[in-house]
Amino acid sequence: MGALPYGFFHSPKSPQRKVSVLMSIPRHGRSALLATAAVSVALAASVAVIGTADAASTLGASAAQTGRYYGAAIAAGRLGDATYTRILTTEFNSVTPENEMKWDATEPSQGRFTYTNGDRILNQGVAMGAKVRGHALLWHQQQPSWAQSLSGTALRNAAINHVTQVATHYKGKIYAWDVVNEAFADGGSGARRDSNLQRTGNDWIEAAFRAARAADPAAKLCYNDYNTDGVNAKSTGIYNMVRDFKSRGVPIDCVGFQSHLGTGLPGDYQANLQRFADLGVDVQITELDVAQGSNQANVYAGVTRACMAVSRCTGITVWGIRDSDSWRTGENPLLFDNSGNKKAAYTSVLNALNAGGPTTPPTTSNPPPPTTSTPPPPTGACAATVSLNSWTGGYVATVRVTAGQAAVSGWTVSLSLPSGSAITGVWSAANTGSTGAVSFRNVSYNGQIAAGGFTEFGFQGTGSGPTATPTCAAG
Ligand code: XIL
Repeated sequence: MGALPYGFFHSPKSPQRKVSVLMSIPRHGRSALLATAAVSVALAASVAVIGTADAASTLGASAAQTGRYYGAAIAAGRLGDATYTRILTTEFNSVTPENEMKWDATEPSQGRFTYTNGDRILNQGVAMGAKVRGHALLWHQQQPSWAQSLSGTALRNAAINHVTQVATHYKGKIYAWDVVNEAFADGGSGARRDSNLQRTGNDWIEAAFRAARAADPAAKLCYNDYNTDGVNAKSTGIYNMVRDFKSRGVPIDCVGFQSHLGTGLPGDYQANLQRFADLGVDVQITELDVAQGSNQANVYAGVTRACMAVSRCTGITVWGIRDSDSWRTGENPLLFDNSGNKKAAYTSVLNALNAGGPTTPPTTSNPPPPTTSTPPPPTGACAATVSLNSWTGGYVATVRVTAGQAAVSGWTVSLSLPSGSAITGVWSAANTGSTGAVSFRNVSYNGQIAAGGFTEFGFQGTGSGPTATPTCAAG
């Protein structure tokens, strides 16, 4: 969204939310909490402010307060490590197999399926009462050698059979599957990556999603990728695929943003999550790790706040537990050091989770009906500015609509596109026209802008983007 400051959705936790929090806590923990609650009630008459009594002290419990999960990628081979397992069971309420459910692990020779290690991850998650993310049904990497040597119809059939078999084995037990992993190319093309799977035909991804839905109708089905951490050509290519899938009824429920990050976070990280959410899919941060450096805690906090500010961001997974468990050897990119101590990044994440935001937009109570003698409130003026992210042959425009000194109730932004440019996609607004003089009307949830506040919408086009400042009409 980008329209609202981080933490906008934070509100004092209602009694109703406290009940749902309580229900998600293992039974043995509830009685102690209830006793604490009773004491709090008893003290309330004489003590006005007790403090932030409901700030949770673990990542999973804190995320659960807003209906989210906080997960870790785990390795079956490490589950015998007491420090590792202690942190896992204390802090996390979702697990992802780091390697154990990949194609090479689950079908080492064609038609022979091995689930021993995948099942160890599943059982660990079940024992913890955690969600289990399935990762990953089809990917161009970590394919068994027999699949690498196939092509054409033989590979297509083998791939779809793999999806069907593995999703059937885990039917009903997986919260969300990464059905397809990393199918888009890096760089400015916004196109599919070349791979043996891609060479079986462009429809391989939708075929995989359909097979997964047929095998396990309860699992959320995700597309997962990296270098998608802001609005860029690659994330826009994926955005266009998801929009196309939604328009044609191809089953897709979520998009995973791996978020293997360096020392900075793109400024439009949250806006990028929001534009996918606006397509009607959940978004999840699926493989978070951040290069060690002075900024690590800030980047972790920024990712957390972005997810909390997007109501359809349902959870975050870090790609490992201790730095020594990370695949990014030497980069120390995780929340716990080699000895299992909490790092500064851990504290920044926990604080951001505790500052919270719900997973569904807040409902506001209905205003009293207007009386006939009361004129409608005055609506103020608005202004709009465009920022462009361009590449050869295309662009993404982000338009900020800002209210003047009075609140705005409804807005229309008009601008002129250069010749040769045509709009191919719009989010968080409804457009009239797609070439030449075009206009954009607010959608239901972003028409109201507080005095001095702003909202943002965006569109993608071919050719080059608009250069002149748009006009904005309020009302
Ligand atoms: C990595 C694992 O962490 C490593 O142990 C393995 O050797 C290679 O794969 N994107 C993904 C993950 O989707 O599956 C990858 O995991 C990291 C990049």
